Amino acid sequence: MRGGFPTRRGFGIPQGVTIPELLDVLWRDYVASTPQAERIHALLTARGEALRNDHVALRTYAAGGLGLAALARPFEALGWEPREAYRFLDKHLRARYWQHPDPALPKVFISELVVEELSPAAQQIIASLVAQLPDGFAARGDLAWAGRPWAVTLAAYRALLAESEYAAWVAAFGLRVNHFTVDVGSLRTFPGDGDDGSLRALCAFLVERGETLNASGGVIKGSAADRLAQASTRADSVEVAFADGRAAIPSCYYEFALRFPLPTGALFHGFVPASADKIFESTDVRAR
Ligand code: NI
Repeated sequence: MRGGFPTRRGFGIPQGVTIPELLDVLWRDYVASTPQAERIHALLTARGEALRNDHVALRTYAAGGLGLAALARPFEALGWEPREAYRFLDKHLRARYWQHPDPALPKVFISELVVEELSPAAQQIIASLVAQLPDGFAARGDLAWAGRPWAVTLAAYRALLAESEYAAWVAAFGLRVNHFTVDVGSLRTFPGDGDDGSLRALCAFLVERGETLNASGGVIKGSAADRLAQASTRADSVEVAFADGRAAIPSCYYEFALRFPLPTGALFHGFVPASADKIFESTDVRAR
């Protein structure tokens, strides 16, 4: 994409934003850096689907007041309620998801990088980014989609990338949606089979249409036994402006989630895929 990301001003929204307006702002910002998502959305719409999103995922640093609680504020103000929290030790992340009483609305999954677990060199780079934040930045109403509020060099990006893909992504793209995730269970033209048949059929359709899926660790992660099976595309590559020049780097992927019922019959809404590198810490979110 020539020109990199649009400025956040292009997506700025006034106070008193409605839920549809908020989701539209997030979607427009996301597809600006992830054209494949808009293309796939159009492919599915042309098939007769009315897409629902399972979740939107946002990333941030646990530093400078930019942590996940700060990003959650606009969503909580519009009725999203906090649910379980997670800890991904190997990736140095904390995460949590929020759910809205309206089941048609996507869950919001926000993660934050536990910066103090990185090397001193990486911590120093992130500190130099956060030090550029203007006063009051973390209190902005549009913090969750404010975009990149700092200048970063390609060298700093690459140094972070060597240690943490997540750290590098936030350095390059700032605060914004990392991915949208289609609710595969809401699709009507990919019939389910009680297992992950609808997700497999969707993946086959996308490959047939020339899309590239992320096959690392298998195309489909998770299973009916995990209550959640997901697949995703390989991230688009976009040109980003760094302080010392432009470079094409991976932006975002589009994700597809199929959920299965719990023994109670209720659909599982959590985020605990069967992945050995993810460690779940149960927390009582209501006692927070
Ligand atoms: Ni996701």
